[in-house]
Amino acid sequence: MSKALKSSRISVPDIRARKGGEKIVMLTAYTATMADIIDPHVDVILVGDTVGMVHHGLPSTVGVTLEMMIMHGQSVMRGASNALVVVDMPFGTYESSPQKAFDSAARLMSETGCQAIKVEACAGISETVAFLSGRGIPVMGHIGLRPQAVNLDGGFKTKGRTTEERTRVLSEAREVAEAGAFSIVVEGVASDLADEITKEVSVPTIGIGASANCDGQILVTPDMIGMFEWTPKFVRRYADLRTTISRGIAEYAKDVRSGQFPGPAEVYTLKAN
Ligand code: KIV
Repeated sequence: MSKALKSSRISVPDIRARKGGEKIVMLTAYTATMADIIDPHVDVILVGDTVGMVHHGLPSTVGVTLEMMIMHGQSVMRGASNALVVVDMPFGTYESSPQKAFDSAARLMSETGCQAIKVEACAGISETVAFLSGRGIPVMGHIGLRPQAVNLDGGFKTKGRTTEERTRVLSEAREVAEAGAFSIVVEGVASDLADEITKEVSVPTIGIGASANCDGQILVTPDMIGMFEWTPKFVRRYADLRTTISRGIAEYAKDVRSGQFPGPAEVYTLKAN
């Protein structure tokens, strides 16, 4: 049997079986280097369309393309060998019809080797989730605050604070789960609503700005390692890499300008014959 077939990667059924059990640890990664660092510690790696904002400097995820997701998905797959890898379907590649969603998802899966895709709960999503799941594509749903709907919402707005919104988010969760999603990201919702969703649906919920009672948690990695000065309220910073990197770069610049770098140990000399 080839090495690939003997892969010990965490699988979709493994994650599905964690409902109500051991918490699911999930983070985003966009490159092989970060995937390699993150992989031993997490159960799921998301190649999120946040890549557009955190690596490409876009104002939202709306400008991210399928080609960008394929390139970053391929990179992450080269760096990760343990975690389940899920790749985001970017805006405009799945909303118009289940067939369009299948064509985009099939490209993502066959060109990256990822094990699942993620879609935001737009109109008609249950039909799309059922269409994809029935054709061998594991789907993770994304409900609550939907970053791809930022223009409709007029910003990244928390959901579920009014009765009407609570009813809508809860029914999104039910629909996505019943249509066959193997897990659901619940983003930016009131914590008691996230608890209700977690109790109600039969698949694991992964919270981000939601509740500690979700079946798992995800954060955007550059946020939690301190790459940005501003982060949303729900982010806990586990490192301050912006300061560490900035200090290192400043030291390097000082050494280059003063002629201290490179030193004798950092240059090559002729070999003695
Ligand atoms: O794209 C992303 O990183 C995401 C997370 C915020 C869940 O969807």
